[in-house]
Amino acid sequence: MKNILSANQFNKEEIEKILASASKMEDAVNRGVINEVLKNKIIACIFFEPSTRTRLSFETAALKLGAKVISAENAMENTSTYKGETIEDTTKVLCSYADVLVIRHPEAGILDKAAKVSTKPLINAGDGANQHPSQGFLDLYTIKKEHNRLNNLNIGFGGDLLNSRTLRSLLPLIRAYEGNKFYFISPKELELPRDFIEELKRSGVIFEELRSLEEALPKLDVLYMTRVQKERFLDVSSYEKVKDLFILKKDHLKAMKLDAIIMHPLPKINEIEKEVDDDPRAAYFRQAQNGLYVRMALLLHVLGL
Ligand code: NCD
Repeated sequence: MKNILSANQFNKEEIEKILASASKMEDAVNRGVINEVLKNKIIACIFFEPSTRTRLSFETAALKLGAKVISAENAMENTSTYKGETIEDTTKVLCSYADVLVIRHPEAGILDKAAKVSTKPLINAGDGANQHPSQGFLDLYTIKKEHNRLNNLNIGFGGDLLNSRTLRSLLPLIRAYEGNKFYFISPKELELPRDFIEELKRSGVIFEELRSLEEALPKLDVLYMTRVQKERFLDVSSYEKVKDLFILKKDHLKAMKLDAIIMHPLPKINEIEKEVDDDPRAAYFRQAQNGLYVRMALLLHVLGL
């Protein structure tokens, strides 16, 4: 039985297989010829944190493949978790209803607890600031589609790197490819934790840490902006202090390569000026669309299909 708990669990061969499968899914969706291989399956989407794209694209992916969906949104309040039920008990019960469990939760690492008792494949749809592997795959798929390669790219991550589970999920996947250089661009308050940086150094990743977007922009093939993760801050005032430090403006675009792409997992709040959306290099809505094909591929993957 396969779970998808972390992007760190995949080797290059598996990554390539999933990208190829996602590409097949995209083709099938576009041609309107999808094989409904999940006809007798039920997919449970249980979200203890807000979501637009992740939950609805997983549900759409399931429906496109012929599966049925049961789902709980706002699950902190709308499931028995509210009454104090443990994740283990909730998981055991869901396994007696559904064939795959897709779970998002604010607590980092909680999916490991669920996996210990689960008898059905589990997909981590985001656990705190830790992991969001399906996002990592759709980001990887987007870079490949837009640039036609996954190697020899200069990739900048901008914004709240401290709390970004999407960075922590894309990085292990794209590290499987050679010649990429990473730029981590953030204010000091939102920089990557030092132990994370040390681990990158030890494993030979080529990267620089920068404090300003301006410095990085001309070099980048990919600029991956992130939202300041308000929900991870302990108090409002420390969020207020950093929330507007990094804003990508229309004026910045002049400094960027003509074939660079701007990515963002969305939702974007104030970190990208609205006018940027009209630039062809703004890839974030295309990126969100790719989520559908990638999540179709991931559902097939965990079911061994
Ligand atoms: C991201 C998430 O939930 O981590 N959103 C998403 O899944 N597309 C990013 C974010 O919320 O900032």
